[in-house]
Amino acid sequence: MRIISVAGARPNFMKIAPLVAECSRVSGINHLLVHTGQHYDTQMSDVFFRDLSISSPDIDLGVGSASHAVQTARIMMEFEKVCTRELPDLVIVVGDVNSTMAATLVAAKLNIPVAHVEAGLRSFDRGMPEEINRIVTDQLADYLFTTSREADENLKREGVNPEKIHFVGNVMIDTLLKHRGKADGLNVASGLGIDGTDYALMTLHRPSNVDNPAVLQGILTAVQDISTSLPVIFPIHPRTSQRIREFDLDAMVHGSVRLTDPLGYLEFLNLMSGARLVLTDSGGLQEETTILGVPCLTIRQNTERPVTISEGTNELVGTDPVRIREAADRILAGNWKTPRVPEYWDGKAAERIVAILTANVSA
Ligand code: UD1
Repeated sequence: MRIISVAGARPNFMKIAPLVAECSRVSGINHLLVHTGQHYDTQMSDVFFRDLSISSPDIDLGVGSASHAVQTARIMMEFEKVCTRELPDLVIVVGDVNSTMAATLVAAKLNIPVAHVEAGLRSFDRGMPEEINRIVTDQLADYLFTTSREADENLKREGVNPEKIHFVGNVMIDTLLKHRGKADGLNVASGLGIDGTDYALMTLHRPSNVDNPAVLQGILTAVQDISTSLPVIFPIHPRTSQRIREFDLDAMVHGSVRLTDPLGYLEFLNLMSGARLVLTDSGGLQEETTILGVPCLTIRQNTERPVTISEGTNELVGTDPVRIREAADRILAGNWKTPRVPEYWDGKAAERIVAILTANVSA
């Protein structure tokens, strides 16, 4: 069976890693990894291939950054050439970035079956570009691999044939469990001049949070305030550093806010495991903190990952500085929930996915 897997942006790499490993372990699979080039900086891309021991992509489409339409179109033009040349029996896409949707559109129009890993997540907020990518991808995919029972229900509600839906667990957690020991051996906080575990870790990059100066300023006010209680380590996404410069907010991220460049997978996992709390607008961090048992404040009004709230350590705090500070205070006072491991988040999701594919996809 000839499979092409597609990855393009940072959160894709930890999801594709266990699938690539499983495809090479199982006999009878001829696998090609395509990198779209949506993310291209060393710290946004190459470092994950190194940390997660993924071999270099077989094909790099090199599309780079652009508006949504231009980026999607470029990926489609280049990926169509790959599909018509390589004639795969199946295309695997992961997550919800532009690369996910673009590759799905191409494969579906060439009548190549598509497997979507992390299907069925819904924030019910079409203002998020990812929500559009999720809906389009799930309507076109033939194999929909989900991380939670809620995701199955979302898909059924949208009319997806239940036979296409497979609840398999979470490939991102496969990667976390595999690399946790290695990450524990590092001590990244002390390299940043911080002792022990008395720090908060923050990430922020959603357009709704960083592209509007008033919203960004409000969030940074909360962060400044929290940083009077404990240092805040802030590995900064390129989009966010551009906006902070553009809106002249540099002074707000000095002092107890320790800015770093984006970090590699192992360094970041080490920091996350040791943090008192995590502040984020990322999707993946909500899941990872649930497994690590670290309190997570999600700086958004909604989440496509409600299981991290019902079973995990996550709470939605929006963007109001008072609400963010109040939640951080509850954590610092030791008043937070104890998580349960969500069903099937056990390190075996990639194994389940590849078993289903080998049993069902015809070569
Ligand atoms: C993308 C995904 C988002 C994901 C995020 C993780 C979409 C619609 N968005 O958002 O779901 O959570 O990745 O990072 O697919 N840039 C660099 N170097 C890079 C990549 C980007 O400097 O390697 C800069 C560019 O100026 C670019 C900006 O960051 O314009 C934003 O990058 P882009 O890929 O458009 O979106 P993200 O915000 O990263």
